[in-house]
Parts: sequence; structure tokens; C-alpha cells
Amino acid sequence: MRTQVAIVGAGPSGMLLSRLLKRAGIESVVVEQRSRDYVAARVRAGVLEQGSVELLRELGLGDRMNREGFVHDGTLISNGGHGFRVDFAAATGKSVMVYGQTEVQKDLYDDADADGQTMVFEAQDVAVHNVTDAPTVTYTVDGHAHSVRADFIAGCDGFHGVCRTAFPTGLLTEFERVYPFGWLGVLSETPPVSHELIYARHDRGFALCSMRNPMLSRYYIQCTADTEASSWSDTAFWDELRRRLPTDAADTLVTGPTIDKGVTPLRSYVSEPMQYGRLLLAGDASHIVPPTGAKGLNLAFSDVWYLSEALRRHYGDHDSAQLDGYSATAIKRVWKAVRFSWWMTTMLHTFSEQGAFNLRMQETELDYLATSVAAQASMAENYVGLPF
Ligand code: APR
Ligand code: PHB
Repeated sequence: MRTQVAIVGAGPSGMLLSRLLKRAGIESVVVEQRSRDYVAARVRAGVLEQGSVELLRELGLGDRMNREGFVHDGTLISNGGHGFRVDFAAATGKSVMVYGQTEVQKDLYDDADADGQTMVFEAQDVAVHNVTDAPTVTYTVDGHAHSVRADFIAGCDGFHGVCRTAFPTGLLTEFERVYPFGWLGVLSETPPVSHELIYARHDRGFALCSMRNPMLSRYYIQCTADTEASSWSDTAFWDELRRRLPTDAADTLVTGPTIDKGVTPLRSYVSEPMQYGRLLLAGDASHIVPPTGAKGLNLAFSDVWYLSEALRRHYGDHDSAQLDGYSATAIKRVWKAVRFSWWMTTMLHTFSEQGAFNLRMQETELDYLATSVAAQASMAENYVGLPF
């Protein structure tokens, strides 16, 4: 095959990029190693920044989100049994949309079907070649070898993908912090305990209350990094969640059978630069944030926005300045989201080895946030999303 942009990965980054390029009249081919159903069913994040919401609406992809999503003007934060609210709307005039990544993924796939987007699923042995002069993606399907010759390759293949590994040895600088804990998350067909999210700090560990719809709740508790989800019964999960929530939430929590249970490791990771030759990375292929700040999906959106604009200028105006500067532009917003996610994670989780001084710093950070309008405005502007 021959195309303008070969996209490796059909997750949010790859699919949103293909939609943005299509609207710019730029052809692409998406190559994905998993099945479409597998990708669409992956239970991931649930919060869209206002910029991401506006981008989906501008693309004509916001109808179902507008119907089924929840606009949130603030969030609750608790420490032990008591809590306070951070009012995003009052501080920033903006809000966020609670709408599952699985739903975003389905909307992107439906849009791709509608305009005949070329997507290859269950591609095996995917590899990228000649990324500086004649970019080519090779793969096999049902034992048959295929290749896609393109002008550019977009590496949208996530943290465990192949594109980042195609950078020459020594070019990448990698920054990483692995947190000494994970999140045990469940989905349950129960009414959410609160109409807004609850980020709960507790001496026993962090907990988060979120939702997907009026009868589908999403809950997380901080757990050890080596936790096996199967080692937690539903009853044990609900009991531990109650212990960590503010009193009124613990008393009104509606429990039920979990329909999904899994452990998410927490890490901060950034690799620089995000481009080499005609290979350009976007989303988790280049960076990972702990889910505390709900930034992973939204960073994928801003990377892809910058990349699609740069490619539009390259093809449409024969101006490659933005393309040459893609990594420098995208990485600035990436680091701001990495900082915010690290800040939220450090403030809200229990660190067994942190010592008395760091514990006081954590308690003081929370106390300052609880009592300062300026501190809450700072958190709010990062949570609703800094400008693209
Ligand atoms: N060849 C083809 N596809 C691949 C390969 C490969 N070698 N390796 C990985 N993939 C696919 C994965 O199967 C996945 O569907 O690339 C896709 C990458 O998608 P994500 O990991 O979701 O990354 P991204 O699209 O950048 O979206 C980031 O997704 O994982 C969440 O928390 C993350 O919300 C964030 C968002
Ligand atoms: C979710 O709903 O899954 C969710 C919400 C907020 C977060 C992380 C996850 O910070």
C-alpha cells in the first residue's frame, strides 16, 4: 500500500489522528495489532478536558458524548473523614466531561467506518523501517506479508509499542518515576456514590469514586504494586473503599457485583524527543502519566492536535516549520501534565517509606489546597486542561 501517513496503533491517539487528517484531506492507513473489539472494550480513563470535548465537537464527534456524558463543574477532595470541593467553573469558567474512553473509542471507530478509513486489525510482526527517508510499515495478517510505504509514520502504539524502539540508540532521553503502589479498579452496575468525583486521601491509602452512567460506577483503591486483582473479593474491596471515604459517602455507598476488576501500575514516564526523521510519536508511545490527574487520554488528544496541524501545514501550505517543531511544541504541554499528575499523586497517596517530614509536607499541601482560593484555582486550571 502507499499512503501519506501510516499510523501504528488504533487506540485514541491513532484513531483521532486519522480523523483529523481525513478532514484535512490527508490520507492515512491505521495498523493495529489487536482486534477492533479488544481495543474498543479496554476499560480506561473517564475524564475529558474541555479542550478535548471542544475538539471532538468541532470534528462532529460529540453527539453521543453530549447525550451520554456528564459535565462536571468541580470535584470533591477528602482527607480522612472530611472533605472540600474544588469548583472548576468558579475558578476557570471551564468544566470537564465524564465520558469513558471506551465510548470515545467507539465514536472514533464509527466515524472511521463512515468515511472508509483504511484500518488493519490483528496485524502481527509490525515493524517500521527507513524512517528518515522512505518510511515503511511492514506486518503480517493471516500469514501474509504486507507493507505500507508512507511519507510519514505516526507512532501511536502506546507504551509497549515498537515505534519508540525504532529511534536510534542514544537519541532518546528517558525520564521515569515508578510509584511504589498501584490502583485496584472496579466497575459495578450501581448508582455512583456522589454526583461528582471524590479523590480521597486516607492513612490506609488513596481511593477514587467515579462513574460512567447513572447505573455504572467506577471505583479505585490504592494497592501494592504487586497486587493480583483476583486476590480481592468484592466484599473485601467494598469494605476497604468504605474505610477510605468521607463518612457521608461511606454511609451511602451502594455496592454490588463487580463486572470488571483490574490493577493499574502507576508511573510517570517521558521520552524526548517525540520525533526522529519522518517518525513522529503521539500519546502513550511517548509518555505515561499516573491516572490521578486524568491526563493520559487528554495528552493523547493534544499531541495529535499539534501533529495534525503540523501535517496540514506541510501538505497544504508546503510549510514544514510546525512539523520540524512538533516535538518541542508537544513536549511543553506533556511536561505540564506530567507535573500536575505527579503533584496530585504525591499529595493524595500514602507512601510507606516517606518519613515524617514528607508526611507533613503532604498534609500541608492538602491543607493549603483546602483553604486557599489561589491553590484551588491552580489545581482547577490544570484539571480542566491547560490550553492546547
Ligand atoms: N503494532 C500495532 N499496534 C500496536 C503495537 C504494534 N507493535 N503495539 C501496540 N499497539 C496498539 C495497542 O494494541 C493499542 O491499541 O497501539 C494502541 C495504543 O493505544 P493506547 O495504549 O491506548 O495509547 P494511546 O492511543 O496513545 O492512548 C492513550 O489510552 O491507554 C490509555 O491511559 C492511556 O488514556 C490513555 C490513552
Ligand atoms: C475514571 O473515571 O476512570 C477516572 C476518573 C478520574 C481519574 C482517573 C480515572 O483521575
